[in-house]
Amino acid sequence: RPQLRMDPLAGLMMEEVPLARIAASAGTPSWVYSATTLRRRLAALQGALEDARLGAQVHFAVKANPNLAVLRTLGQAGAGADVVSEGELRAARAAGIPADHIVFSGVGKTLAEIRLALAEDIQQINAESAEEVEMISAVAVAMGRTARVALRVNPDVDAKTHAKITTGKSENKFGIAIGDAPALYARMSGLPGIQAIGVAVHIGSQITAGLSAYRVAYGHLADLVRSLRAQGLSVERVDCGGGLGIPYRDEPAPSPAALAGAIQATLGNLGVQLMVEPGRWIAGPAGVLLASVILQKQGAERRFVVLDAAMNDLVRPAMYDAWHGIVPVAPADFTAVPSPADVVGPICESGDTFARQRGLPRLDAGSLVALLDAGAYGAAMSSTYNSRPLAAEVLVEDDRFAVVRERQTQDALLAGQRLPDWFAA
Ligand code: LLP
Repeated sequence: RPQLRMDPLAGLMMEEVPLARIAASAGTPSWVYSATTLRRRLAALQGALEDARLGAQVHFAVKANPNLAVLRTLGQAGAGADVVSEGELRAARAAGIPADHIVFSGVGKTLAEIRLALAEDIQQINAESAEEVEMISAVAVAMGRTARVALRVNPDVDAKTHAKITTGKSENKFGIAIGDAPALYARMSGLPGIQAIGVAVHIGSQITAGLSAYRVAYGHLADLVRSLRAQGLSVERVDCGGGLGIPYRDEPAPSPAALAGAIQATLGNLGVQLMVEPGRWIAGPAGVLLASVILQKQGAERRFVVLDAAMNDLVRPAMYDAWHGIVPVAPADFTAVPSPADVVGPICESGDTFARQRGLPRLDAGSLVALLDAGAYGAAMSSTYNSRPLAAEVLVEDDRFAVVRERQTQDALLAGQRLPDWFAA
């Protein structure tokens, strides 16, 4: 995590800014992102794809981090966007990402969302069912537009990731069965208002178990492209999806070069325009969740470090049993002996636990910790459970930092609620 380093006097720094300074100014809990890391990781991915001579476009999966400053940073560095809702489409546009760099994915786009995608004339819609293809055609005809549509296929491969984030098995709701794809693609090619542009696949997220699942899925996709072309159908684009995992702990994770190699080996000679849709790999390591210790308590059996951040902020440990590194922000005290502690939030359920029996030094009330690799699916998944306001978001670049999303106010938490008029005044 090159953007983080321990300074003997200032403590943990992100780029050239001490995290303690950010906490003093923005408060805690706060999400803190490194602009340089976002750019560097995007460039590493683009470079690996270029080295493999794939000419592939990178579409950042907005769901991983829809913060406007993050999207603007990546958009300016050449990333397009993969969106799954009206809100994400609007965020990408508001961040300045051109419509012709935007792909709309998702298993249930509403008519309103399809209308918006066509009104904005985005680059491509990835359709996930025969029913959706008909919906898109009808909307496009009514609007006098042509939708560029790729068919997302379900290749029935096991990406060997957490069950809640695997998407490419036949039992999953995503895509259309690869066996049904040729007939549907042929039908789609003849429908009014639709230009059949290609095929897409996304087999899951946080894929670390080698690249064999990718290779198998892309191999099936290449076979499909060849058979569609043999039927006389035009296939111009292949969307390879996202999913590239990162090492949260010390698990081996495939490199962008390895992913590029897998794409090259399977899809490289088809003469199609390629795209990838990574979210986590770009944004995950670029962010931390900065939190304060409220208190440290000794239970009957365990030491508990209670933070002012909770599962409503970072839900990944509660939801996926995810492991996130936890580092004290204060300058390292080499005399302090680490001992096991459970790091928890203040929410009223036991699942509100960030780490169990983690070796940590004594952490007194008011001391700061950073939860690492929280730049993807962190703020994006937070809620206001326990009526806790959404945390602030901060962007760091070199020796500067700025609050890029203010902490939700207590008033904002209550805003929009009203009592029925039949309640007595
Ligand atoms: N493309 C599609 C169609 C997707 O569904 C996803 C993620 C991506 C791209 C980006 O995947 P990535 O490169 O970030 O792995 N909340 C979970 C992850 C859910 C991923 C959902 N789809 C987590 O925190 O682990």
